[in-house]
Amino acid sequence: MNSINLKQVFANIAKKYEQVNHFITFGQDKRWRKTAALMAAKGGGDKWVDVCTGTGEMAVLLDKISPGSTQVYGIDFTKAMLVQARKKNSSVKFIKGSAEDLPFAQSEIDLITVSFAVRNLNLEPEKFKQTLSEFYRVLKKNGRLVLLETSIPDNMLIRKMFFFLAPKVAKVTGHLLTGEKEGYEYLGNSISEFYQGKDLNNILRKTGFSSAICKQLALGSVAIHIGTK
Ligand SMILES: C[S@@+](CC[C@H](N)C(=O)[O-])C[C@H]1O[C@@H](n2cnc3c(N)ncnc32)[C@H](O)[C@@H]1O
Repeated sequence: MNSINLKQVFANIAKKYEQVNHFITFGQDKRWRKTAALMAAKGGGDKWVDVCTGTGEMAVLLDKISPGSTQVYGIDFTKAMLVQARKKNSSVKFIKGSAEDLPFAQSEIDLITVSFAVRNLNLEPEKFKQTLSEFYRVLKKNGRLVLLETSIPDNMLIRKMFFFLAPKVAKVTGHLLTGEKEGYEYLGNSISEFYQGKDLNNILRKTGFSSAICKQLALGSVAIHIGTK
């Protein structure tokens, strides 16, 4: 499953991507992005980057709440997702690029956000750490990395229910609405293969982030992580 062609998967689902997310989360994904965006915006700064921006929902939210002097960028390696992002009326600069090799100089950026995409950057643990190091490279001192992602609930009962339901709902709904079967199978399965909050915090600290905090949402099935350089 690790050999899945993610670019192709996201190209196939780009047009219906938001519809599927809003359906399977009962619209809660919008609220979670807003919570993360408000937390992310608190530190200010003039260059903010939403990495793996997809259809740009997080980037556009950040753009709306950013100070007038702040430029927001959205980076993604899938052209079809960026086509959807650019349809939104905003002053975000959407750039085709890869999370592993960001088009920014060392210590140039005040804030990086990644929403519902860190799982995709974790196909191999070593590569994941390298990508986090790339985020660290471009962030200014005291710059923030804000990750919004599904998480593994601490409570055993909730965890079991979540692991049973979430992959199935994602697979069936995603397949029905987009026709993409293998992609949603991967996306669904990757939910239970991701980290518990404390484990992702440890990885952030090992990558050099001086502090890492975790705020849980939706009974621990979603978490916001904030790492500070
Ligand atoms: C699940 S979507 C998340 C989109 C958006 N951030 C959101 O909140 O819904 C994952 C996105 O990450 C992009 N992506 C995955 N791996 C990437 C990488 N290594 N570099 C750049 N973009 C990547 C995909 O093209 C896709 O648009």
